[in-house]
Amino acid sequence: MRPAVRAAVADDLPALVALDEVCFGSGAWGEVAWADEFERLSEDRVVLVADEDSVVAGYVVLLLPPVVEDVVEVLRIAVAPAERRTGVGGQLLTIALGRCAGRTVLLEVAAGNESAIGLYAGFGFEEISRRRGYYAGGEDAVIMRWREEQ
Ligand SMILES: CC(C)(COP(=O)(O)OP(=O)(O)OC[C@H]1O[C@@H](n2cnc3c(N)ncnc32)[C@H](O)[C@@H]1OP(=O)(O)O)[C@@H](O)C(=O)NCCC(=O)NCCS
Repeated sequence: MRPAVRAAVADDLPALVALDEVCFGSGAWGEVAWADEFERLSEDRVVLVADEDSVVAGYVVLLLPPVVEDVVEVLRIAVAPAERRTGVGGQLLTIALGRCAGRTVLLEVAAGNESAIGLYAGFGFEEISRRRGYYAGGEDAVIMRWREEQ
């Protein structure tokens, strides 16, 4: 059964902290940052989860305007390793982009992250610039943009 995508609720916090740790290791946000994220949830700051029989299989974090008018940022997206390549990431992104009508969506991704770049490219995201050596270890950050009319 396909997971349902829904807005995150406070009870999801432990699962999100744990999944983020699994997916990002030393780059995980950690409990304090996730708790802070939940404090700031609003119409402009959104966490969506892919809920599979009450288990969080993936999540996406969006920063919507008014930080920069008409620009949405995808801050984070991840799927549990066992659930990858089954369409969960695509499902999360479909719902997320569905909230971005008429807006530009930006995200940043490590140049070597083939799975994420493959996912984004499939939705029509295009590389618009690079931050050379941005990540620890010297990996470039790729800035990608999506516009609804594509
Ligand atoms: C990136 C990520 C969210 C993709 O989630 P997913 O649920 O596996 O994605 P989907 O199954 O919906 O895949 C959709 C498409 O993305 C592309 N894709 C996904 N994984 C890929 C891989 N390992 N290699 C190449 N392309 C890939 C494919 O085009 C795929 O379509 P296909 O399976 O029909 O070929 C997941 O790999 C992940 O959590 N990675 C670790 C966290 C991360 O790096 N997040 C992004 C940076 S913030």
